[in-house]
Amino acid sequence: MLKDHLERPLSSLRISVIDACNFRCTYCMPVDKYGENYKFLPKNKLLTFSEIIRLIKVFVKLGVKKIKITGGEPLLRANICDFISSLSKIPGIEDISLTTNGYLLADKAQLLKEAGLHRVTISLDSLQPHNFQKIIGRKYSLEKVLQGISAAEQAQLFPIKINVVLIKNYNDKEILDIVKYFKKQHYAIRFIEYMDVGNVNGWQMQQVVTSKEILQKIEEEYPLVAHGLEYGEVADRYFHKDGIGEVNFISSVTKPFCSSCVRARVSAEGKLYTCLFATEGHDLKCLLNESDDEVHKYLSNIWKNRSDRYSEERSSTTKKNKVEMYHIGG
Ligand code: GTP
Ligand code: 5AD
Ligand code: SF4
Ligand code: SF4
Repeated sequence: MLKDHLERPLSSLRISVIDACNFRCTYCMPVDKYGENYKFLPKNKLLTFSEIIRLIKVFVKLGVKKIKITGGEPLLRANICDFISSLSKIPGIEDISLTTNGYLLADKAQLLKEAGLHRVTISLDSLQPHNFQKIIGRKYSLEKVLQGISAAEQAQLFPIKINVVLIKNYNDKEILDIVKYFKKQHYAIRFIEYMDVGNVNGWQMQQVVTSKEILQKIEEEYPLVAHGLEYGEVADRYFHKDGIGEVNFISSVTKPFCSSCVRARVSAEGKLYTCLFATEGHDLKCLLNESDDEVHKYLSNIWKNRSDRYSEERSSTTKKNKVEMYHIGG
């Protein structure tokens, strides 16, 4: 089995199908940084779906079993359902999921399911319309995202995971309301520690609400049972004691999980990143004229030489020019 320097296999691939997004979340694309002047890739620079499918087939030969479709906002990419349909026909893939901000999901959930998508993760940081708009940097309707989530439920895109990035003095007063709202069968609410990804968000440790603090708050009202963090996953899972719903914690800042990081990421323009906090990607686009065997060899060499463990080294490094989150979709 292909393993990197730290004995980690390659089993999960995150594909960004577009870097553009209709939101401007403060922790990802803050409007006060560039105003609206984010430079997104022109269409002709995006990998085509057939190029992505070809690459994925090689990744599957290297051990990949899970595919995550991300963005930017992946539902902005035209004909995404056709892509999922091709993806779902590749033998060997056990899990196909998509992470979205949910704004365009209401109309697409059923079509995505029919195309072969297994499940969705929706990012939603606030249930208060005003706070929601402040965080996403847009005067958009929260209701539309909630309708997207209901449509996903209707289409049985289970389990439905709800990602909440908590930031001090932004949404940390909403913990219990959010837990209450999503305490349902087939749902997992996931609190994510705010991370120092990219360069534009001006991350500071004082803004992080730690998983420990969040857990303490939740346990004031809801008894939880610890399930744990499985190898290759990022979320430490807890179940509600009454068996209805679950709460997860993604603690990359206070409890890094690099030792079991089995993920590779490909950006929309075709660069391979072996860490979320990488500065450089490996260009795969220029490989597309090569044979599958050559591509296989190239990818496997990159993985064999991988030794990334940024989150474990965070306190002792100062990295500049890290790739932005919206380029690789988290
Ligand atoms: P599933 O549970 O399979 O749906 O995927 P996931 O949890 O990897 O996906 P999601 O896109 O929902 O990511 C959740 C959060 O975890 C995001 O904030 C990601 O940036 C973060 N995350 C995911 N993978 C990694 C990783 O390898 N390293 C770090 N540090 N954070 C990660
Ligand atoms: N820290 C933690 N999570 C983040 N996300 C985006 N930027 C950050 C950050 N700086 C989350 C999004 C989405 C997921 C893919 O990554 O909210 O849910
Ligand atoms: Fe927000 Fe995700 Fe869009 Fe970034 S890519 S602005 S986190 S919705
Ligand atoms: Fe993997 Fe890098 Fe995240 Fe560590 S910091 S878990 S190596 S992506």
